[in-house]
Amino acid sequence: MPQYYKAGSIPHKRHTQFRKPDGTLYSEQLFSTEGFSSDYSLLYHNHPPTQITKTEKPFDVSPNVAEEKMLKHRSFQGLKIKPQKDFLKSRKPILVNNDCHISLAAPQQSMQDYFYKNADADELIFVHEGHGRLITSYGELPFKYGDYLVVPRGTIYQIHFKTGKNRLLIIESFSPIRFPKRYLSTNGQLLEHAPFCERDIRPPAELITYDAKGDFLVKTKKKGVLYNIHYASHPFDVVGWDGCCYPFAFSIFDFEPITGRVHQPPPVHQTFEANNFVVCSFVPRLFDYHPNAIPAPYNHSNIDSDEVLYYVDGDFMSRKNVTRGMITLHPAGIPHGPHPGTVEKSIGAKETMELAVMVDTFHPLMLTKQALEIENENYARSWLKIE
Ligand SMILES: [Fe+2]
Repeated sequence: MPQYYKAGSIPHKRHTQFRKPDGTLYSEQLFSTEGFSSDYSLLYHNHPPTQITKTEKPFDVSPNVAEEKMLKHRSFQGLKIKPQKDFLKSRKPILVNNDCHISLAAPQQSMQDYFYKNADADELIFVHEGHGRLITSYGELPFKYGDYLVVPRGTIYQIHFKTGKNRLLIIESFSPIRFPKRYLSTNGQLLEHAPFCERDIRPPAELITYDAKGDFLVKTKKKGVLYNIHYASHPFDVVGWDGCCYPFAFSIFDFEPITGRVHQPPPVHQTFEANNFVVCSFVPRLFDYHPNAIPAPYNHSNIDSDEVLYYVDGDFMSRKNVTRGMITLHPAGIPHGPHPGTVEKSIGAKETMELAVMVDTFHPLMLTKQALEIENENYARSWLKIE
């Protein structure tokens, strides 16, 4: 996230005296996710962000893997994940490997009495249903249907929903989430051929400073263990910050599709990348316009990546029996392609209204117990033509 941004009050020179009206010093904090070797921000707290008062007994929240190895096309009914009041408890890991965890969640309540920090993973939260505000030390970030929220690992946040009806797709990335390198200039600006630009990136909109002392619980996840850590000051006591590392939102509806005379490959849909996986956005678009074009995709062998599609809305042209919130997993090692009948049906069609998020992982995914509970039977045989 190379775009420089600043909010609130900051001193003219970094690492110099910056005093409150009463003459005492603000506490400067450098925040980055890759040591001192990448983008960072400097935040100015009313109180040191280090004042731990007590900790509780940690507990295990790591995914419950049910199938470590397999070679079969799978599909899951994402909306069958039951709504749950608490945000953290509502998150159900479905597909996991060492690079990312893909979870579904239907939280009903805002986080009121605690804060959350994922110490291991950047979080990419795709909002399928619901709207509200993501609150961090950097300010308040309003979100709505279709938004990707990118939260750098280590960011303390609270998520507040307007209603109890929320559906989220959450991708935890154990390496920093970035825009694809080929979209960026050497200085980090999004290039003219990229399907989105800086104007589409929404940083936190409003910085509200909570200068408060008391008991503040930050539930912190590290290596699959949740630690309840109590602090003596409010985590969002920042009066100002600047830098290039902060949470932001990007709407899938601001992704400008790249189309062509003939079928365009998945990389034209790419939105984010991290170590060993990419995230793509399939958005409503005009179909291919060669007079003999086949808009449906060709069969493909994705021999070096597991392909996960999360169907958001609209009609998915190459699949049959696809419903909102459904997930398909086409593992590396066996080819897949359009369902019977969908190739002919796609010919002559002018546009598609499909909306989907794709995650391609370069190492195999494992299935959790919760995935098996919402699995559609017989998906592996769904390419068979019924005569
Ligand atoms: Fe595919």
